[in-house]
Amino acid sequence: MKVGVLISGRGSNLKSLIDACAAPDFPAEIVVVVSNKADAGGLEVARAAGIATAVISHKDYPTREEFDAAMDAALQDAGAEFICSAGFMRILSDGFVETWRDRQLNIHPSLLPAFKGLKVHERVLEAGCRVTGCTVHFVRAAMDEGPIVAQADVPVLPGDTVETLSARVLEAEHKLYPLALRLVAQGRTKIVDERVVIEHETAEAQAPLMMPPR
Ligand code: GAR
Repeated sequence: MKVGVLISGRGSNLKSLIDACAAPDFPAEIVVVVSNKADAGGLEVARAAGIATAVISHKDYPTREEFDAAMDAALQDAGAEFICSAGFMRILSDGFVETWRDRQLNIHPSLLPAFKGLKVHERVLEAGCRVTGCTVHFVRAAMDEGPIVAQADVPVLPGDTVETLSARVLEAEHKLYPLALRLVAQGRTKIVDERVVIEHETAEAQAPLMMPPR
């Protein structure tokens, strides 16, 4: 499956997907990385891996729809059949979401539907949560919403700061995103009533979808 990755920043999740795709049996390859920011660190990560990049700045387009149309063109030109958003921090237009419906994943650093949006770890600490985590989900028009493919739970430890907690969640993200993309690219997921059903799902088969595995 040919995948385009959308980024806005450092690109550590992009790197985890690139590394996963390097395995000969991985059922996806990254054909283009699109960033809305010219200085996104992830662009260097992509270039170092020999992957085509495109910078499409939202500031160059008067409307969200026109910006999204430019992104769509870059993805289509590169032959992308599927999108992974990896730290892409723009809200997408309804038209773009519909065009890529059921063909776009996003990763978010919380156990959705809790803590959508920004400053997730601050809010998790503020709320006194004992557990947090990360989620990979299909993209829908509402931000950080959509059918959930996989989640990983991460404990909140006494003395955690935003830095220590986000680092621990990020480690889980780097395992979870390749796992979720593999399932989807293998054609093992289908969406029924806006929930993801995974082929041959049993209690045991579900175990690898939880990190740490149990
Ligand atoms: C990741 O923590 C990702 O979950 C988050 O941005 C970070 C990007 O880091 N995404 C969101 O908050 C989306 N709502 P990265 O650039 O190192 O992959």
